[in-house]
Amino acid sequence: MGTKRQFRIWRGDESGGDLQDYAVEVNEGEVVLDVIHRLQATDAPDLACRWNCKAGKCGSCSMEINGKPRLSCMTRMSTFEDDETVTVTPLRTFPVIRDLVTDVSFNYEKARETPAFAPPADVAPGEYRMQQVDVERSQEFRKCIECYLCQNVCHVIRDHEENKPAFSGPRFFIRAAELDMHPLDAKTDRKEYAQSEMGLGFCNITKCCTEVCPEHIKITDNGIIPMKERVVDRRYDPLVWLGSKIFRRGQVPQTSVTSEHHSGAGSAQSGVHSHAGGSHDARSEAQAQKGVNWHRQVPHPTAPPLDANGKLPLTELTFDKAAAPSPFGDDVTFPLPPEHLNFAHPQQDQPKH
Ligand code: SF4
Ligand code: SF4
Ligand code: FES
Repeated sequence: MGTKRQFRIWRGDESGGDLQDYAVEVNEGEVVLDVIHRLQATDAPDLACRWNCKAGKCGSCSMEINGKPRLSCMTRMSTFEDDETVTVTPLRTFPVIRDLVTDVSFNYEKARETPAFAPPADVAPGEYRMQQVDVERSQEFRKCIECYLCQNVCHVIRDHEENKPAFSGPRFFIRAAELDMHPLDAKTDRKEYAQSEMGLGFCNITKCCTEVCPEHIKITDNGIIPMKERVVDRRYDPLVWLGSKIFRRGQVPQTSVTSEHHSGAGSAQSGVHSHAGGSHDARSEAQAQKGVNWHRQVPHPTAPPLDANGKLPLTELTFDKAAAPSPFGDDVTFPLPPEHLNFAHPQQDQPKH
């Protein structure tokens, strides 16, 4: 038999509401979502709440528990003192539909606005190859469960509705960072796009988003900050400045984000694909080819050869061409030491091998 615990739950809809008190039975090992389900089965059958997996993987049960954005299915009742009142409110950044359910369509709109992965035109699906180091690097961002807790906590939009049109938020900054790091992504102005179209400049690196992320993604340290640094590198790099003076005064674009320039346009003829800095539109790429070359040049990714039957090699063991080169350097040996892995391993302090 469990014990009675005090809950305060926000009830209402878009026209208003308030906190209501409930005394609910709580049993050992239960999470906040269990208690909400018990409330629905007893005192408050019309209490609205969104959930799906009850395993911390669907990202739908986001709410604010004692003021902190959390997944209710991952918040154990043992987190709180026995005599503590647990206050549950809906996500504050998004409009309330009813009770604990909010309208998070802002995030889907921003997802639609974020340019998709742009593979090289001359490599067919199924022929993409990446080095393991690049897989490891972007894997951290792929763990996102789209719970939008990071979006909810970010002060840029939490209390500033007027910033929403110009700010995509941390969840989409890590999407941009992931694609910026992707060696096969042919859209090479991701960071400039993030800066000018997604509102990266609004972020002042408070790291609140990182603190609430249930997947322990280092949103600021591994996604936002590296992108901000590379935008600054590009804008204030003295070589870029000098290049713009020497070659075509004032014509090196600082930012070129409104049109879809693929590296194919500028670099297909030259057979190179450049990843480091710059908008990489045709003109700046052509200038880079002429003289002072501030872009790191690496071979363009090529498709692996087919075998005698016209099929791709079965495994990477039979793969006889190097994978797409890493823009971060090729002097990496495997397995990577644990301290070089940037995803949150459950036993980060334990050596993995
Ligand atoms: S670090 Fe940036 S994106 Fe994250 S919560 Fe703070 S302002 Fe928002
Ligand atoms: S980055 Fe983390 S907090 Fe943000 S939506 Fe993804 S899983 Fe949730
Ligand atoms: S119910 Fe799926 S994350 Fe909580």
